[in-house]
Amino acid sequence: MQKKVQIGLVGLGTVGGGVYDALRRNGALMASRLGVGLRVRRVAVRNLSKRRVGANPPAAMLTTDWAAVANDPRVDLVVELIGGTTVARQVVLAALRAGKPVVTANKALLAFHGEELFAAARRYRANLYYEASVAGGIPIIKVLREALIGNRVTRLYGILNGTCNYILTRMQAEGAGFAEVLADAQRLGYAEADPSLDVDGHDAAHKAGILASLAHGFWVNPRQIHTEGIRHITALDLKFAAQLGYVIKLLAIVKKDGRGSAQVSVYPALIPKGHVMASVAGVFNAVYVRGDVVGDTLYYGRGAGADATASAVLSDLADAALDLKHHSTERVQAFVSHERNGALRPISAATNSFYLRLDVVDQPGVLARIAAILGRARIGISSVIQPEGHEGASVPLILMIHDAPEAAMARALGQIRKLNTIKGEPMMMRVENFT
Ligand code: NDP
Ligand code: HSE
Repeated sequence: MQKKVQIGLVGLGTVGGGVYDALRRNGALMASRLGVGLRVRRVAVRNLSKRRVGANPPAAMLTTDWAAVANDPRVDLVVELIGGTTVARQVVLAALRAGKPVVTANKALLAFHGEELFAAARRYRANLYYEASVAGGIPIIKVLREALIGNRVTRLYGILNGTCNYILTRMQAEGAGFAEVLADAQRLGYAEADPSLDVDGHDAAHKAGILASLAHGFWVNPRQIHTEGIRHITALDLKFAAQLGYVIKLLAIVKKDGRGSAQVSVYPALIPKGHVMASVAGVFNAVYVRGDVVGDTLYYGRGAGADATASAVLSDLADAALDLKHHSTERVQAFVSHERNGALRPISAATNSFYLRLDVVDQPGVLARIAAILGRARIGISSVIQPEGHEGASVPLILMIHDAPEAAMARALGQIRKLNTIKGEPMMMRVENFT
């Protein structure tokens, strides 16, 4: 008789519910492909009396005691889908200690505790799988760890947060307000329990750290990733960007040249409308990877939501089931640390092109004073827009800046900010040309 792998599911929210449903739908298909059956044995939730639409396991399967699931001798593998970094860490460590493989979609947990969890997985000879932690349904972990194993990754550009991409797309296409679209993203199950993780760029930074770690062989500390979010982007910026031939995307960027240190950052950037990444809309994610052997490659799919994420969890369940079947924990290791001297370069050491929107008093000589500051810093202006017919005491002035060192640009901006003809906080965004 075919062996059945018994699953302990910890968390039955957006993703857990999606996994439970998808297993009901495609479990038999997976079993016929794998030669191993998959069965949910127990499920831990926070609130037993919550009304659950869709995924609704029998009451006898449910418990509020995650430890009872992780330590249940009938459970062969544990799926952590509760989120956060405190209880989730305990769940994963308890399961690994019990010698059980763990599947997780928790990028925050991996970003902050990855090294500890991978060490535990090695010590207890139980693997840790995390395909769903980055870019939802896109199998980007497998791509970096397996498909591109023969490449040095020189560039990786990711649209990695579905919520932010959904918000920016709808603000740009419909002129919708930030708060209204964020509420829709929450209703659709895209956003994190604490949505500031999405809109302030941290979730994308957690994911960028995971991808950079896989690409470069040392675990990247998310605190060292330069991170900006999208809260400060206004309808005016989206409009001016469009006039200039760009769209605005929250980009995760990993750059590494030769033997030098890597640079990992997350910020909203203007990208040319004609570039393939500009057409990634709504909740979709994309990861653009340049390898020294393969050249440019692109991976695209839904980045958040129940079904897309469930698909990635199912892929991990299949790997875990095969590893259990073949008594192997070494077939694909969770993370192989192969670069002992890996280090990150701060963004202040980078060179970028910039978009600068200033709110200026409408009087003669203003532009000359700004140009003088930039000129003294040897920073070149490539174009200027000052729209006519703007009402009010101040007017927007948009400057496009040629490639300039970040540190020089930051100093110049500090001086521009002090001019008494500048009103409000200047808006500076980088322009990414994917070179
Ligand atoms: P939800 O908030 O929708 O679900 C969380 C689930 O965990 C709920 O079922 C909740 O129970 C349960 N839970 C919370 N605390 C406990 C606890 N102490 N003991 C037992 N159960 C508990 O989160 P998501 O499904 O959206 O996210 C889960 C994970 O997946 C997170 O790490 C997230 O970052 C990640 N992720 C999410 C994606 C998405 O699109 N939403 C995509 C990719 C990854 P109850 O139902 O009773 O409240
Ligand atoms: N909140 C995340 C996002 C979920 O919007 O991308 C997927 O990781």
